[in-house]
Amino acid sequence: MLKAFLIYLSQASWARRVITGWTFSRRAVARFISGETLEEAITATKILNQNGLYVTLDHLGEHVGDPESAKQSTEAYLPLLDQIDHSEAKAGISLKLTQLGLLLDYDLCLGNLRRILERAKERSNFVRIDIEDSPVIDLTMKTYYDLREMGFENVGMAIQSYLYRSEADTEALLKAGCRIRLVKGAYKEPPDLAYPEKKEVDKNFDHLAKSMIDYVMQSGAEPVSDNGKIPPVVAIASHDEARVNFAKGYASQVGLDRSALEFQMLYGIRTDLQSALAAEGYPVRVYVPYGLEWYPYFVRRLAERPANLWFFLSNLFRFN
Ligand code: FDA
Repeated sequence: MLKAFLIYLSQASWARRVITGWTFSRRAVARFISGETLEEAITATKILNQNGLYVTLDHLGEHVGDPESAKQSTEAYLPLLDQIDHSEAKAGISLKLTQLGLLLDYDLCLGNLRRILERAKERSNFVRIDIEDSPVIDLTMKTYYDLREMGFENVGMAIQSYLYRSEADTEALLKAGCRIRLVKGAYKEPPDLAYPEKKEVDKNFDHLAKSMIDYVMQSGAEPVSDNGKIPPVVAIASHDEARVNFAKGYASQVGLDRSALEFQMLYGIRTDLQSALAAEGYPVRVYVPYGLEWYPYFVRRLAERPANLWFFLSNLFRFN
């Protein structure tokens, strides 16, 4: 109930106006967001790299309302790719298609993403398409396949284990040679599209992780690229130790090398588990968001863990 309300708030413009207006919000946000500027994001990335962690950088934004905003979001990624290259950071990028204008015009969005992919290719980098809520998933999949047909190899997708459709999507994406990030799913979806019970979402997560691992065992498993930018086909993105342990256990049972099993976690969450997995020899990639458009991302993090709400409100009483 609280989770559903917070997910609603993450999309409500009145709540955005109120919450972003509170000065104490910024203090709470700093736990989950690396900063507002590209420089701050690169600094955070370099620190994570020094600690043996890879990164995927997200310039925050989603659901832009006009083509000019979509163009600005696109153009934020071009210097980011240049800076990653110049600073020799071990980082790729993540983005949302509604940030590039998917809900305005399909060809506009495709053209914007193409510009980013071309720059990423010049910089030997990789672009992960985040997966958003169900109304845009068909178009998101179409975008991925269209780009692959245009010859882009440096692009991957995310899949949500809460959706019934994800089994078929995963199978098709694996056949197309897609690098997949497996997540549980962060939006509110109706029961005709998504498993309503957490235990079913978890069960499907393990099931999909198993099929991804089986696939690479048959087709040939590649490790992370030497420059740290291109992830392996299998990326398990969860802070849930039971999910992490299932993937580790199954991979070891079938003989998948640790270098081909990437774990991904969000900036500021379960940093202990991030370090422990890296010390065990698994590639670990941290999703590092930055920018001014932090509101929906931040409120989804509150929704995932009600304890974060108390952390957020506790900042109200800190005056320094
Ligand atoms: P679960 O929610 O069961 O949490 C397990 C444990 O992890 C909790 O008990 C707690 O200890 C810790 N934890 C989880 N969330 C926390 C939080 N916010 N604050 C503090 N502790 C927390 N979703 C999506 O729909 N599309 C996408 O593209 C992505 N991309 C993405 C990338 C990466 C790298 C990650 C890690 C996650 C995503 N997600 C996502 C979000 C994902 O769908 C999911 O909402 C969160 O990862 C939370 O689910 P967990 O798998 O961590 O399990």
